[in-house]
Amino acid sequence: MGSEAVKVVVRCRPLNEREKALGSNTVLSVDLQRCQCFIQKPGAVDEPPKQFTFDGTYFTDQTTEQMYNEIAYPLVEGVTEGYNGTIFAYGQTGSGKSYTMQGVSEPASQKGVIPRAFEHIFESIQFLVRASYLEIYNEEIRDLLGHDTKQKLEVMAYSRCGTD
Ligand SMILES: Nc1ncnc2c1ncn2[C@@H]1O[C@H](COP(=O)(O)OP(=O)(O)OP(=O)(O)O)[C@@H](O)[C@H]1O
Ligand SMILES: [Mg+2]
Repeated sequence: MGSEAVKVVVRCRPLNEREKALGSNTVLSVDLQRCQCFIQKPGAVDEPPKQFTFDGTYFTDQTTEQMYNEIAYPLVEGVTEGYNGTIFAYGQTGSGKSYTMQGVSEPASQKGVIPRAFEHIFESIQFLVRASYLEIYNEEIRDLLGHDTKQKLEVMAYSRCGTD
């Protein structure tokens, strides 16, 4: 794992029941040591796979626990020391963003990044925490801790003048 300020890691989820019932094949393979992904075009065995390199790669049998310890833990540690940190899940619908971020309680190894980060932060700090939880979906923004999570919020420009 490099020491860049922005790291991009990829996680591949297993085929779900619907995909298995359709007889879908897995077209992705991963070299965990080299952090590389290979996508093989179905039916084109002669064609070399498309190859992508990331800062980290997680295949179907890796857990959120492992991902948290390797990727999120150092970032959250930095936050407790006063640095800014962002963990951003990106992917098409059904790719596993919520599974990774919110996770499931069973098995414990698949508990999500968010509850792990909360435990981590509250174990190590002794000061006031302010939190917000927003969703941007189809260019609409919602407050997921608000009374009405369906209410669309307006995005306002905010500027502050003067001296502090
Ligand atoms: N690593 C994984 N191991 C096992 N199952 C997984 C994994 N990742 C995702 N899944 C399963 O795949 C399905 C889709 O995942 P999820 O709901 O997290 O997708 P999403 O990216 O949040 O989609 P959306 O954009 O629609 O919210 C869920 O049933 C989830 O349980
Ligand atoms: Mg989701």
